[in-house]
Amino acid sequence: MLSYATRSLTLIGSAVVLASPAIAATAQSFQPPALSPYSTSTNYTGKTNNTIQNGPVVPGKVFDRFIQIWFENTDFETAASSPTFQNLSAQGLLFTAYYAMTHPSEPNYIAVAGGDFFGNAVDDFRAIPQNISTIVDLLEAKNISWSSYQESMPYDGYTGYNYTSYDYISGSGDYTYYVRKHNPLVIFDSVSNVTDRALRIRNFNDFANDVNASAISQWTFITPNLVNDGHDTNINFVSQWIQYWLNPLLNDERFNNNRTIILLTFDETETYSINNQVWTLALGGGLPAELRNTTDDTYYTHYSCLSTVEANWGLGSLGRGDTNQTMNNVFSFVANVTGWKNNGITAGSSAIPLTNLTGDIPGPLNPEYYLPFTAPDTSAVGAGGGPVFLGPGLNTSITVASLADTAPVNLTAEGQQLPWATNPGYDYPNGTKVYTSPTASSTSPGGSGSSSGATMLLIPSFAIAGIVMGAVLVL
Ligand SMILES: *[C@@H]1O[C@H](CO)[C@@H](O)[C@H](O)[C@H]1NC(C)=O
Ligand SMILES: *[C@@H]1O[C@H](CO)[C@@H](O)[C@H](O)[C@H]1NC(C)=O
Ligand SMILES: *[C@@H]1O[C@H](CO)[C@@H](O)[C@H](O)[C@H]1NC(C)=O
Ligand SMILES: *[C@@H]1O[C@H](CO)[C@@H](O)[C@H](O)[C@H]1NC(C)=O
Ligand SMILES: *[C@@H]1O[C@H](CO)[C@@H](O)[C@H](O)[C@H]1NC(C)=O
Ligand SMILES: *[C@@H]1O[C@H](CO)[C@@H](O)[C@H](O)[C@H]1NC(C)=O
Ligand SMILES: *[C@@H]1O[C@H](CO)[C@@H](O)[C@H](O)[C@H]1NC(C)=O
Ligand SMILES: *[C@@H]1O[C@H](CO)[C@@H](O)[C@H](O)[C@H]1NC(C)=O
Ligand SMILES: *[C@@H]1O[C@H](CO)[C@@H](O)[C@H](O)[C@H]1NC(C)=O
Ligand SMILES: *[C@@H]1O[C@H](CO)[C@@H](O)[C@H](O)[C@H]1NC(C)=O
Ligand SMILES: *[C@@H]1O[C@H](CO)[C@@H](O)[C@H](O)[C@H]1NC(C)=O
Ligand SMILES: *[C@@H]1O[C@H](CO)[C@@H](O)[C@H](O)[C@H]1NC(C)=O
Repeated sequence: MLSYATRSLTLIGSAVVLASPAIAATAQSFQPPALSPYSTSTNYTGKTNNTIQNGPVVPGKVFDRFIQIWFENTDFETAASSPTFQNLSAQGLLFTAYYAMTHPSEPNYIAVAGGDFFGNAVDDFRAIPQNISTIVDLLEAKNISWSSYQESMPYDGYTGYNYTSYDYISGSGDYTYYVRKHNPLVIFDSVSNVTDRALRIRNFNDFANDVNASAISQWTFITPNLVNDGHDTNINFVSQWIQYWLNPLLNDERFNNNRTIILLTFDETETYSINNQVWTLALGGGLPAELRNTTDDTYYTHYSCLSTVEANWGLGSLGRGDTNQTMNNVFSFVANVTGWKNNGITAGSSAIPLTNLTGDIPGPLNPEYYLPFTAPDTSAVGAGGGPVFLGPGLNTSITVASLADTAPVNLTAEGQQLPWATNPGYDYPNGTKVYTSPTASSTSPGGSGSSSGATMLLIPSFAIAGIVMGAVLVL
């Protein structure tokens, strides 16, 4: 296994600045942040904000509720060797060829919400422009309720880069428990810049309230805090959190009923030099009984979480990784029912792409290999059969194909800022959108300095300058 130092060297540019993995070396013992998953706690900082409002349940073809819980930075074998994870796999369907998309964390979270990681190769502040769509657009088009619970996030819709609060484990001082880079939807302006959407990103005091009120949404994304998700700790710590938090909920119909699928996965492997296979389990009352304590060796990726949801509810698609027929296999127990045909790639196949690559993948979130945002593939047909969703004001003439001969640009060498690394400046400190001037401290080391107004004018001086912002600009 690579040491953390070696791992940093595999990254480029400002990623080397990331010192946080060093925290993992600090031994911490699990302490419950609250009395139970049903209890609010001052350790969570944020207040409970009433009960989330969900519309009537929209029946899916296989399940009516899909809950994803993401853990951090763990190789398949490490999770598989944990007694608690073994215990869980006896209750579920273990995917033995499920892969993350790249390294480090943030691009994987972006991918599971938006169907692409847009070349991002760091954990820096990112804000993806408003006409780039996500799974939320597809769900809302069919009135399927959704929410996200982010442990230790201070208040609903918080847009900051991270949050530091009372260190309830050591009982003294403060600790950074919450990070934006693990909150997939807040990174997309199409969610976080729309008040009704932003406020559906809630904290764990809200979770306690919502589960007590039987108000868990149909699509739910859950991120435990930096200790409970394994980021700063290890698999034994995560196991104790599972026993404290998840195990009681598995036996509670308000969370896990006979139409619920719960997907446990890891954002990426810890080791960069192996292909990115992560331990992933489907469990829940909605899993066909005969599949419990079995394995499925179909090749899946984080994009499968999009295509499976699309197939289940007959949704449209994003026309990105979710419709890429190499990487979008639908979980077989769903594909079998909806009639979607997977590509036949299974564990051990040489057709499984390497997704442990990082750094030099071109895209709009990569300052050293910059290309503009492209429109989705409007002719793609996803597993849900519906149309490709197009964000408002999207210029559909800038496509992957139209940029095929365009060389990526090194913005850093040009002395230019990445346009999408600046905090757009909105937040919801009391449930209402307020604007504040972005400051260096509200952005990452890689994205500090410029105001959002100035960012819009930064156009690199090279051949494609005229179209750099074209695909997305709504000005
Ligand atoms: C906060 O966490 C500590 C450590 O587990 C615990 O002793 C305390 O009871 C928690 N506070 C609340 C309000 O649950
Ligand atoms: C194993 O699973 C059962 C059922 O959910 C649970 O009661 C028990 O605490 C689990 N044991 C461990 C070690 O996770
Ligand atoms: C799961 O399957 C294994 C064999 O693969 C068996 O030994 C074990 O008892 C099973 N566990 C449950 C809970 O069915
Ligand atoms: C699923 O749960 C509902 C509500 O508790 C119940 O009415 C229904 O019979 C259950 N279905 C199955 C197949 O167990
Ligand atoms: C990715 O994984 C492959 C297969 O294990 C390995 O050969 C390769 O060196 C890895 N790439 C990187 C950049 O670590
Ligand atoms: C689909 O994914 C494969 C594997 O990563 C990649 O090689 C291919 O270029 C992708 N196709 C499109 C159209 O993006
Ligand atoms: C899906 O159907 C195939 C072909 O009938 C079968 O081999 C496979 O076991 C099924 N998979 C699941 C997960 O139901
Ligand atoms: C981009 O430019 C910076 C600054 O000149 C340089 O350090 C870096 O190596 C370049 N990256 C690539 C991929 O050429
Ligand atoms: C956020 O939305 C407001 C309108 O509600 C708009 O004026 C502003 O430009 C948007 N910000 C970004 C970064 O898109
Ligand atoms: C929320 O805060 C803003 C800015 O401080 C203020 O203008 C607004 O009145 C507040 N709204 C409520 C409901 O407190
Ligand atoms: C609480 O949620 C409601 C409904 O989403 C919203 O209108 C209100 O602004 C929120 N208040 C806070 C403090 O987040
Ligand atoms: C939190 O944000 C501050 C300010 O940008 C930064 O200096 C610090 O490294 C961040 N900590 C973590 C754990 O992300």
